[in-house]
Amino acid sequence: MMTVQSCVKIRNEWDIVAARQMGRNVAKDLGFGTVDQARITTAISELARNIYLYAGTGQICIEEMNEYGKMGLRVIATDDGPGISDIRQVMEDGFSTSGGLGAGLPGVKRLMDSFSIDSESGQGTTINAVKWVR
Ligand SMILES: Nc1ncnc2c1ncn2[C@@H]1O[C@H](COP(=O)(O)OP(=O)(O)OP(=O)(O)O)[C@@H](O)[C@H]1O
Ligand SMILES: [Mg+2]
Repeated sequence: MMTVQSCVKIRNEWDIVAARQMGRNVAKDLGFGTVDQARITTAISELARNIYLYAGTGQICIEEMNEYGKMGLRVIATDDGPGISDIRQVMEDGFSTSGGLGAGLPGVKRLMDSFSIDSESGQGTTINAVKWVR
């Protein structure tokens, strides 16, 4: 099966806006309602902003999913930055190494239907999040 995937490289703050826009367009095409479109674009913003802040550069890819007729959207955020050594810690509300709110990653987890982090210290980070059309 062919998987439709579109990616945006994250190198500056404008790229965060571009990734958001790409997510909104795909979500709209797949038939997500406006509230879920907003959830998806917020999640993409947080992931892209983290790439920009903590890794410098990376990319956001969006995949269309169709499993047994169920439509969905997968967001894959990847970077070759410093990585995350303690994944449980960064998933705690309020944990931040930059004086931020520490709401980004726990927020993404709540906004999406599934969420996983694959990272090790010094190995970069891949974050995978899926939302299904209801
Ligand atoms: N791509 C990444 N690479 C390395 N570390 C990351 C990455 N994304 C997040 N982190 C680490 O996880 C912590 C928590 O991220 P999270 O987005 O939840 O909060 P924040 O960015 O600190 O604040 P907020 O997003 O609320 O402004 C960050 O402070 C940072 O230390
Ligand atoms: Mg953040």
